[in-house]
Amino acid sequence: MEYNRRKFISFFGKASLGVAILPQFLIRCGNTTTPSKDFKINAAERLEALKKVTLEALAPSDKDDLLLANGLDYHTIIKWGDQISSKDFFGYNNDFTAFIPFDDENPNDGLLWVNHEYVNPLYVSNYNYIKHKDPHQFKTKEQVEKEMYNVGGSIVRIKELNGRWEIVENDPHNRRITANTPIKLNWDTPIKGKTTVIGTHSNCSGGITPWKTFLTCEENYDSYYGETEYDKNNVPSHKLSSQGWEKFYEYPPEHYGWVVEVDPKDGTAQKHIALGRFAHECCTLYELEDKRIVAYTGDDKKDEHLYKFISSKPSSLKEGTLYVADTIHGKWLALDWESQEILKNNFKDQTEVLIRAREASKLLGATPLNRPEDIEIDPITGNIFVSLTNNKNKNDFHGSILKIEETKGAFDALTFTASTYKAGGEENGFSCPDNLAFDLSGNLWMTSDMSGSAMNKENGPYMPFKNNSLFVIPRLGKDAGKVIRVASAPKDAELTGPWFSPDGKTLFLSVQHPGEETTDKNNPTSTWPFDSDNIPKPAVVAIKGDLIEKMNKLNQIIAIEN
Ligand code: FEO
Ligand code: CA
Ligand code: CA
Repeated sequence: MEYNRRKFISFFGKASLGVAILPQFLIRCGNTTTPSKDFKINAAERLEALKKVTLEALAPSDKDDLLLANGLDYHTIIKWGDQISSKDFFGYNNDFTAFIPFDDENPNDGLLWVNHEYVNPLYVSNYNYIKHKDPHQFKTKEQVEKEMYNVGGSIVRIKELNGRWEIVENDPHNRRITANTPIKLNWDTPIKGKTTVIGTHSNCSGGITPWKTFLTCEENYDSYYGETEYDKNNVPSHKLSSQGWEKFYEYPPEHYGWVVEVDPKDGTAQKHIALGRFAHECCTLYELEDKRIVAYTGDDKKDEHLYKFISSKPSSLKEGTLYVADTIHGKWLALDWESQEILKNNFKDQTEVLIRAREASKLLGATPLNRPEDIEIDPITGNIFVSLTNNKNKNDFHGSILKIEETKGAFDALTFTASTYKAGGEENGFSCPDNLAFDLSGNLWMTSDMSGSAMNKENGPYMPFKNNSLFVIPRLGKDAGKVIRVASAPKDAELTGPWFSPDGKTLFLSVQHPGEETTDKNNPTSTWPFDSDNIPKPAVVAIKGDLIEKMNKLNQIIAIEN
């Protein structure tokens, strides 16, 4: 057990993913929906440790700065425009981060993956969208190409030296994946005539695999090449994108909206068609004892759905069945053309079902949800937590966290129960939950995503919460279950991509879109991270300090027990 636990700590910053590759650990704590025997026995000891942790919550703030609670400190690892190799630089609007060390023995040297979700044309391509509303008319090819370079992802080798994480400049692993990188489709049938497509973009959150590769998810893909829409007679038409890239590059919308896997060793990538096509927020994997894979992924659009893929073969993200959730009746419904008559009547084959997963899901009676964002697996109970960020159409302004309990705790179960774990709103002190991360002690960390245009508006629903923030929900102790604000973002920004280092002492975090509401570059709404050029820049920071270490002390107790 000790070896496995050590492996668990070393390889994965997110406890849920550590669990995902550790069946032994999971049997102990996850295959039942009630806490494990060990957990109960040692609760008193853990409680003692937690009593020593003093958590002083930050008050809501509208200050243009990254503010941290007492006991926390940060340094910037990398920001937009930083050179990562002789030919490449770090892209824009960093979101998901994941760190995989090279080996167990030296966990503070490894590869950091960072998503670059989207661009602010005002800064990235100097396209003034305030003045020129229609990019299809005014955006130039050169501007589109600049934007294409700034999305996708970055791989950078980072190392911790004297408590500071730094980029290893010009390391051979350092590379960019962009909207121009050729990417294979992991599918036997070509899509729109291609088996290799051009690029990835809209990379929001993601995940990692038990075989140590990164997953990056294509979310609002329709922003760049538009979308194919069908009328009631099933006649397709092209809905124009908001960014106008298809004016110069007519790539089919069907090539985007997938989960993409990137091998950090050589940067090769593949798109996993079997996981369906929609606005994937994230993809969280669990490995069953027989090595089959369960993948949870949500569609972050109003009234869209929650999905789960169960592979039929070990370590496969291709062979298997995609299911969609009916959360009312607690059923996973198979998006399987072969066995579902209604899908046979509406689509020509399984490939079309996967491409048009949203429509197929509705035909099966999937439950519309309030924008499913991040998904994480509780390392102590095995329950699945899903952020439902909001749905203004349904007067849900503050969102909630949904808890899924698979029947008998089996991740490949086809039934489950769903309940609200925590509702957003003034009573609980947060609004619009987005990214989630369990630390190694099972405390839940959460970021919020109130939109830049709605935050800090007098008499608006988001006024009491001020800037977007990072929260922790302690598992035990006097603050157990409370939502405690521990970081406050710069103006207009969102904190995204929380990921713990293998030793649990660093929280990697993205600061995305500071100054997004800027309309005049001479008068930006934010100047974070306070460079001399006064340009707001998205950046990845390392948060360290006593508070994180104390929260993770519990982890040491768990390690000793094993
Ligand atoms: Fe890119 Fe759903 O957040
Ligand atoms: Ca998100
Ligand atoms: Ca969001």
